[in-house]
This record gives sequence, structure tokens and C-alpha cells, in this order.
Amino acid sequence: MTRQLQIKSYAKINWALDVLFKRADGYHELRTIFQTVSLFDRLRITETDRNIEIVCNDPRVPCDETNLAHKAAAALREATGTSKGARIEIEKNIPVAAGLGGGSSNAAMTLLALVKLWEVELDDRAMIRLAASLGSDVPFFLTGGTALGIGRGEDVSSVEQVRADHLLLVNPGFAVSTRDAYEKLSRLTTSEASSRIPFTLRAARGIRELPLEASNDLEEVVLGVHPEIAEVKRRLVSLGARHALMSGSGATVFGVFDNSQLTEQAASEMRMLGYWTEPVRAIDRSEYQSTIFE
Ligand code: C5P
Repeated sequence: MTRQLQIKSYAKINWALDVLFKRADGYHELRTIFQTVSLFDRLRITETDRNIEIVCNDPRVPCDETNLAHKAAAALREATGTSKGARIEIEKNIPVAAGLGGGSSNAAMTLLALVKLWEVELDDRAMIRLAASLGSDVPFFLTGGTALGIGRGEDVSSVEQVRADHLLLVNPGFAVSTRDAYEKLSRLTTSEASSRIPFTLRAARGIRELPLEASNDLEEVVLGVHPEIAEVKRRLVSLGARHALMSGSGATVFGVFDNSQLTEQAASEMRMLGYWTEPVRAIDRSEYQSTIFE
């Protein structure tokens, strides 16, 4: 019998993203609040004899060893010494290079699925370390829900879960390189670094008590290159969003709405303008953990 697992690979947004300073290792020290949302890719992972193979329905996703899910499988094989292989089919729904963590989520889900399929053992700390070696956002997806990310984003702790049922994701259709976004940062908030953690936490808790102070330090630089993102934000607010912010390094913007009617109206307006648009809700930690395996 072929051993196979189907797994949901959820997207994330960042409620807030504060960049504190550039570190000696070249990464930027962050304070961010991650949030998983109800948009997901679907992975079907089948155990094979030897090779790691990626299949994807989206031509923008590389299927070679540069694919983050491929890297995850190879790293897990190396870490556990197994000689087994895997075929990983990715049904892509999350826009690529869009600030929604799609590749990172695929990598984390590959790790969780292959530990089961290959029947290998890795303790939690080793798993988190391996996830962090794949990318700064990967460890977050091992737990999901609402979480604080510090360090380069890889040091994750769960916080009070935020409920938000009426969110709208809008993507203007161009990819943004995370590396480029960070490289363009010049205004860095090095002072008051330690006071930013409670600030960021307060921002996450206050998400339904707007006006919201949460911001994204990458927004200014990415908007400088892509003014269309500012236009998307402006339109979302004019369509009734209480709050609109770029997620991660963009270009996706999320709008926070009060009810499903407003959200649907805004969704159809944004679609008519030609934007990729998806109404979603926040997925909390317990729902995340109980629904990823199908
Ligand atoms: O960790 P990840 O591979 O996702 O990061 C992609 C790039 O984004 C890094 O190579 C780095 O240039 C930049 N980055 C950063 N500081 C972070 C996270 C990412 O400078 N905290």
C-alpha cells in the first residue's frame, strides 16, 4: 500500500512588523506578530524509495532542489539518516513571493508530514532548528495561530489568539523579493528596541479596537518602489476597511472589515479592478493544529 498524506498548508499575514536593526549576521532583528489565515495550499505527500520529487500546478513555482519543500525534505533526510524518498504534490492557491509565507508554510508542512510518513524521530528543538535553517518564517508554521516572532522572526512564542473573521487579502500581481525589501531599509529604529515587544503585543491584542497602532516597517521602502500598494491600501479603506496594511515584505495587503457584507462588496470591487482578491479569516492555534492533517 502506498503511504500518502494530504495536508493543508496555510498562509500567514503579519499584524505588525517592527524592524529594529541590522545584525552582524546580515539579517534584521524583528518584532513581528504572525497570524495564520484560512487561505491554504494543499500538499499531497507520498513516500517513495529514494528520490525527492516536486510537482506543482503553478509554473511560477520551481520544482527543482531550490523549492523550499524540496530543501525541507532533503534536510530532514540528512538530519535523520533515512534513505527514503518522497513525491510532494503542491496545489498552489497562495500567491508566490507575496508576503503570505506560502513557501515557508509548504516547507514546514513537508517536515511535519515526512516525520510521520518516514517514521523518523526528531525532538521539538531539533525540528525548530531545522525549520529555522530553511527560512526565518518556517518555525512559525510548525505551531501557527497568533504568535510573536523575535530574532530574525524564527524565535516564536504563542500569544493571546486574535479573532478576526472578516479579512480581505489583495495582491496587485507582482512579486516582491524579501531580500530586496530588507536591503532597501535605511531608517532603522535601533532605539527603544526593548520597549517594542510590549508595543507589538499590544498591537496584536488591539486589532479589534482600532485606531490601530500596528505598522509594518517594510511598507515604506516597498511602497517607494511599488506605489500601487499604497493605492490598494487607500482603496480598501475607502471601501470600508477599518485598517489596511501590507503583509511581510508584500505585495499583498490585508484589510480588516467589520462584517461579511462589507468584505464581499470590497472583494468584488477589487476583483473588478483586476486584483487577486481573497476573503479570509484568522485561524487560531487550536484550529490550525487540528485541521492541517486532512
Ligand atoms: O530567512 P529567509 O530566507 O526567509 O530570508 C530571506 C532574506 O530576507 C534573507 O536572505 C535576508 O536578506 C532577508 N531577511 C532579513 N532579516 C530577517 C529576515 C529576512 O534581512 N529577519
